[in-house]
Amino acid sequence: MLRVRRGRCVLSMVFDFTIKIRARVLLPYIDCLVRRGDRVLDVGCGSGVMSEFVRRGTGCVMFVTDLKNDVKFGLPFVSMIKQDKYDVVLLIDVLHHVEKAEQLSVVRYWEGFGNKVVVIETLPNWVAYFVDFLNWLGGMFVPYAFRSFRGWSDLLSDYRVIRVGSPLYYPLNHVVMVKGGDC
Ligand SMILES: C[S@@+](CC[C@H](N)C(=O)[O-])C[C@H]1O[C@@H](n2cnc3c(N)ncnc32)[C@H](O)[C@@H]1O
Repeated sequence: MLRVRRGRCVLSMVFDFTIKIRARVLLPYIDCLVRRGDRVLDVGCGSGVMSEFVRRGTGCVMFVTDLKNDVKFGLPFVSMIKQDKYDVVLLIDVLHHVEKAEQLSVVRYWEGFGNKVVVIETLPNWVAYFVDFLNWLGGMFVPYAFRSFRGWSDLLSDYRVIRVGSPLYYPLNHVVMVKGGDC
């Protein structure tokens, strides 16, 4: 039992570290979509590490939600069903943890709560599959529901789709999809 707990603790430290690197790559793209003072809801926030990076980087007022509350940094956790209206709703690496047949309805549901919706997804490669294997070891639901750039563009055909430029040292590829707003 203790070993399992220790294993989970190490995994959680590894995840937090990798999120910092991912945040560095993604923040320049999020920065132009979220304004200082915007009310932002981060859906599927996980531990809230990424939410906190976005909050600090953009100066927004951050709210978070997920299937369960594992949030750090004292970020305000709001219910998944009793929702308010926000300037921006973020879904960062959430949809590939949802069965493919349900991904569109999850996005449509959250569109009802944001003037702007920003969906960020990881494109499939062996590193992405390996990271999700670690997520699975950590107890997360992992349906391996990645889509290609073309796959996301087809699914969210009413979104602007931007491919994120990955630095040489960074082994993942991401896509940013935006609906609403003027940026
Ligand atoms: C890989 S983690 C991403 C965490 C964080 N957004 C990040 O980028 O670091 C995926 C998260 O999506 C959440 N999730 C999965 N299905 C969801 C759903 N239908 N609605 C909201 N969150 C969901 C999981 O609980 C998990 O915390």
